Amino acid sequence: MSLLKIRDLCFRYGEKPVLNNLSLDVEEGEFVSLLGPSGCGKTTVLLLIAGFVKAERGVIEVAGETINDIPAYQRNMGMVFQNYALFPHMSVIDNVAYGLRQRKINKADAYRAAHEALNLVQLKGMANRTPNQLSGGQQQRVALARAIVIKPRLLLLDESLSALDRKLRIEMQVELRKIQREVGITTLFVTHDQEEALTLSDRVALLREGSIVQYDRPAVIYEQPKDMFVASFLGKANFMEGRIHSIQDGRYTLQLKNGRSLPIGSIQPLVVGLQCLLAVRPEKVAFSASCSYDTPIQGNVSLVTYAGGITQYGVIALDQEWIIQSQNTTTSGALFAVDDEIWFGWKPENTLVLDS
Ligand SMILES: Nc1ncnc2c1ncn2[C@@H]1O[C@H](COP(=O)(O)OP(=O)(O)O)[C@@H](O)[C@H]1O
Ligand SMILES: [Mg+2]
Repeated sequence: MSLLKIRDLCFRYGEKPVLNNLSLDVEEGEFVSLLGPSGCGKTTVLLLIAGFVKAERGVIEVAGETINDIPAYQRNMGMVFQNYALFPHMSVIDNVAYGLRQRKINKADAYRAAHEALNLVQLKGMANRTPNQLSGGQQQRVALARAIVIKPRLLLLDESLSALDRKLRIEMQVELRKIQREVGITTLFVTHDQEEALTLSDRVALLREGSIVQYDRPAVIYEQPKDMFVASFLGKANFMEGRIHSIQDGRYTLQLKNGRSLPIGSIQPLVVGLQCLLAVRPEKVAFSASCSYDTPIQGNVSLVTYAGGITQYGVIALDQEWIIQSQNTTTSGALFAVDDEIWFGWKPENTLVLDS
């Protein structure tokens, strides 16, 4: 049974609809990311679960119990915001113990639990400091300790790592996932960062304008995106829109909207006459300096971007722009330069057939 079950949740601010029939299931112990562009309703979902705003329609269940009408302070949710909202005048340990003291837990027990939580986030020696004596990453850990010390039924994290610089953010991602596994706490993590969502989560729910477009394991949502929105929000893709013109020797000819044609393999059966939207990820494209069965499409390099581990090429072919990525397996740098002729193609299993 799902620990969190949301059904047909609707919410509006005044006249403005924010969530439209949103449904989501999260299993006990699972780490789920809510991913989506700014303004799509991610924070609103957390506020509804925490009970800070009320649903217009729909059901929120935790462990089989409908919680729609339970007041926020009785829901036992742990929430961490982007701006940690620590009490500046209180010591670290008082910040962490605060929620327990509010719940009338006796002082000795509250502080024992608070010290355990501080150990867990590796801030053992920092108990008596005030928040302004800590770095951003350390403050983030305090906020996390403060949220988990109350043993919440759900941990709700709203862009909690976004304020940290890149290196620290990646360290905290690893740490967060380790702590989450150790405690076994079911977590809903809001982010607009696709890489963060993919690396951290058991499953990713991609939101668009208040509805979930796709909800899958990271590898599935990336490798089998449902539509153009998912394919372009999670990573990069080359899109091909057109009609299947013919089939020969197991290969299709796709006639693009601009009239040009290209050979395409697909493991999903396509039929002649079908209007379709296809895509291929840049790293799935193979290329070479000459034409071959695996590299049947001719183009010209328009842009070379060297990025350390990979090189990204912009290529003009069939009157459209393509992105191709290659792994830099040698130290000699980019293989092609601007204006070079290039031939490319990809394996049939890498053709993505999207909903259009
Ligand atoms: N208090 C509010 N009053 C009116 N509109 C709001 C309020 N909070 C958020 N909104 C609007 O609701 C939509 C969803 O907001 P939010 O859930 O914060 O999105 P996200 O967290 O995905 O960026 C946005 O269009 C936002 O402008
Ligand atoms: Mg938000």
